[in-house]
Amino acid sequence: MRLNRRMPDGAGVGLRLPHLAEVVATRPSIPWFEIHPENVLANPHATELLLELAPHYPLSVHTVGISIGSVGGIDRAHVKRVRALVDAVDPVLVSGHLAWSTHEGAYLNDLLPLPYDEETLQLLTRHLEEVQEGLGRPYLVENPSSYLGFGSSTMTEVQFLGELVRRTGCQLLCDVSNVFLSGHNMGYDPYRYLDGLPAGAIAELHLGGFTPEADEATPGADLLVDTHATVVAEPVWDLYAYAVRRFGPKPTIIEWDNDIPPFATLRGQAARADQVAAGAAATERPRAAAR
Ligand SMILES: [Fe+2]
Repeated sequence: MRLNRRMPDGAGVGLRLPHLAEVVATRPSIPWFEIHPENVLANPHATELLLELAPHYPLSVHTVGISIGSVGGIDRAHVKRVRALVDAVDPVLVSGHLAWSTHEGAYLNDLLPLPYDEETLQLLTRHLEEVQEGLGRPYLVENPSSYLGFGSSTMTEVQFLGELVRRTGCQLLCDVSNVFLSGHNMGYDPYRYLDGLPAGAIAELHLGGFTPEADEATPGADLLVDTHATVVAEPVWDLYAYAVRRFGPKPTIIEWDNDIPPFATLRGQAARADQVAAGAAATERPRAAAR
C-alpha cells in the first residue's frame, strides 16, 4: 500500500546503489531514505528496485544534475527525466544545490560556486520557478560547501538565501556539515550563519562527513573538503544540536557517497542524529542565548 506522503520522523540515510538491493530485500527500520535520481535514471535495474521500495518508505529525491545556477539555462530534458521518476516514487521532498554544474551541455563533476549578487538572484529566481514548474512540486535549495568566494559578491550567502526565499517563497535544505566546513574554509562563524537563515523556510537538514586536506594557497592551514566519505565530525554534532534548537526537529539525512561503509554504519549515524536531536529538543536554552 502506498504511503500517504507523510513527513518522516527521525533521521534517515542517503540510499546509494551498493545498499539498494539489501534495503529492498531486508526493509530495515529506517524512517526514510534520500536518493539521487541521477544514480538510478541510467540504471534500469536500480530503477526497478527503487520502484519496489517506494511504497514502503517516505523518500526524498535529491538532484545533483539540475543546475539552477547555470547561465546557459535549465536542461529541460533532464528536468523531464527527473519529473518522470518523481511522479513514479512520489517523494515527500525534492531538492538540489545552490550551485551550477553544467555549461553548454557539458555536465561537470562538481557543484561550482556562484557570485552572490542581484544578477544571480534574478537568474536563480527565474530558474527556480522553471524547475518547480517542470517538476510539478516545490524544490528545496541546499547551501553549498564553499572553498572560495567571488570578489564581486555584494551579499553574504545567508543574505542571498534569505532574499531568494523572500522573492520565490522557496524552502531550504540546510546542510549542517556544509555550514561548518564552509565556515572553517571561508572564515565565518557557523553558529551566526544558522542564526541568519530564515528558520521558517528550513524543510530538511543534511549531515555528512568531510576530510581535512592541505591548502596549497595557505601553507600550514587545512581546507575541509566535502568528501561524504567518513563519519560526521564531533563539532558538527554540536552544530546540529544548535540547528535543531533553532529550527525545530526537521527531517534529516546522513549523506555518505564515497568509501561507502556497511549499511549498519549509516544506521548508526542516523541513530546518533536522533539522539542528538532528542537531547537538543530537551535543552531549554539555545546556545545563542548563552553566548
Ligand atoms: Fe548535502
